[in-house]
Amino acid sequence: MSTTDLFAVSETERERAALHAKSAATEAGRVPDIPEGTALRPVHRVAVIGAGTMGGGIAMSLANIGIPVTLIDANPQGLERGLQRVRDNYDGSVSRGKLEAAERDRRLALITGSLQMADVKDADLVIEAVFEDIGLKQDIFRQLDRLAKPGAILATNTSGLDVDEIASVTSRPQDVVGAHFFSPAHVMKLLEVVRAAVTAPDVIATLMDLGRRMGKIAVLARIYPGFIGNALFRNYTREAHFLVEDGALPHEVDAALKKFGYAMGIFAVHDMAGNDVGYQTRKAQMATRPNDRRWNDLILKLCDQGRLGQKSGKGWYRYEEGDRTPKRDPELEQFVIEESGRMGIQRQQISEHEIVKRCLYGMINEGAKLLEQRVALRPSDIDIVYLTGYGFPAHHGGPMYLADRIGLASVLADIQRYNARDGFWWRPAPLLERLVEENRRFADL
Ligand SMILES: NC(=O)c1ccc[n+]([C@@H]2O[C@H](COP(=O)([O-])OP(=O)(O)OC[C@H]3O[C@@H](n4cnc5c(N)ncnc54)[C@H](O)[C@@H]3O)[C@@H](O)[C@H]2O)c1
Repeated sequence: MSTTDLFAVSETERERAALHAKSAATEAGRVPDIPEGTALRPVHRVAVIGAGTMGGGIAMSLANIGIPVTLIDANPQGLERGLQRVRDNYDGSVSRGKLEAAERDRRLALITGSLQMADVKDADLVIEAVFEDIGLKQDIFRQLDRLAKPGAILATNTSGLDVDEIASVTSRPQDVVGAHFFSPAHVMKLLEVVRAAVTAPDVIATLMDLGRRMGKIAVLARIYPGFIGNALFRNYTREAHFLVEDGALPHEVDAALKKFGYAMGIFAVHDMAGNDVGYQTRKAQMATRPNDRRWNDLILKLCDQGRLGQKSGKGWYRYEEGDRTPKRDPELEQFVIEESGRMGIQRQQISEHEIVKRCLYGMINEGAKLLEQRVALRPSDIDIVYLTGYGFPAHHGGPMYLADRIGLASVLADIQRYNARDGFWWRPAPLLERLVEENRRFADL
């Protein structure tokens, strides 16, 4: 296909993309070195540690399939808030007519709050969802090692910490695994199961099966910064930000992404999530990060100006009281233009095709790296992660599927062009180069 078709997909192509998504979802459940029929560990009772945003949603996903859950928090207010959020979510479903009141009561009765870590003792599976802090998580896993019953699966919902470092503090690293749920956990269909160095095959098989039972699509990943989903997402957002520094305005980037098929553009998403997500970490990393590559720090400057997004009434856009519609903000646009000047960038007109290609091809190149390093088992796993967890337009079938449709030679040629201009981030993935040389596609792997 020509890249002009990025914005127009025929009915036949849409049907093909849907078929691809269907088979990708089935395929994701197969793990080559774990035979189907591997005996699963029993999961009759689960403990979730941390009753925050994720813990509550995870508890609901389990209660929804009839599994009793002990929701444990160290902080009484944290626990009460978490339990209240669970009740509110179920009440919401009842009032929308999606759930019978009796069913709500049955599910709520399956979730018990606790302030005692010792209450993990009867759990067949423990899912840790406390703050993203390696020291804290290691502390929790030391306790789990003491308190959980032999053979219990010990899972962490970390978004990006090294699961091996967490497993290493226990005497049973074979039982430790990543279970990366997405927010809101009771709604989102994606579950990344993260295989650490010595995770036992039956632990993986059990979690993949549990994911399926919870109505989710479980995808296996290896340890890598951001696993599969967030690894690609980093590339997507980075290019979007560079585009703004190079000459596009936030609404132009967002318009191109929406025309491509996303429900929202990335800058509207940032404003919704809050531009300060990750602010402290990024500030802290600035002093020691390598200086051989380009970094995008505009978002940090927005935070310093109080442009946190919807919650502060302004971010990449401005918002009117009680209205979440992003409106163009001349003040922000002026600031962006001045920033380009300060960075010595000659701003240029950037076409909508170029915008989409830069956002997309960074993901595809990263996807090829994940495949080469066996972080992802197969291209279709990356596609299904994107279709179920990241709002990738369904009619495009996922980033790797789309790359095959565009033609890998054409994708690589653009990546080489970006690499020549922008360097480090665009180093072509060796696998992509090899596939082009051999005239093969991702689907042939
Ligand atoms: N929020 C997201 O979108 C998201 C998505 C995927 C993964 N995650 C990951 O999930 C984990 C939890 O994130 P969250 O957003 O739910 O956090 P949160 O801040 O909403 O909740 C964390 C909870 O952990 C509790 N806690 C802290 N220390 C504890 C301890 N020692 N023992 C028991 N409970 C303790 C806190 O009281 C709090 O209720 C993090 O690792 C995060 O990276 C978050």
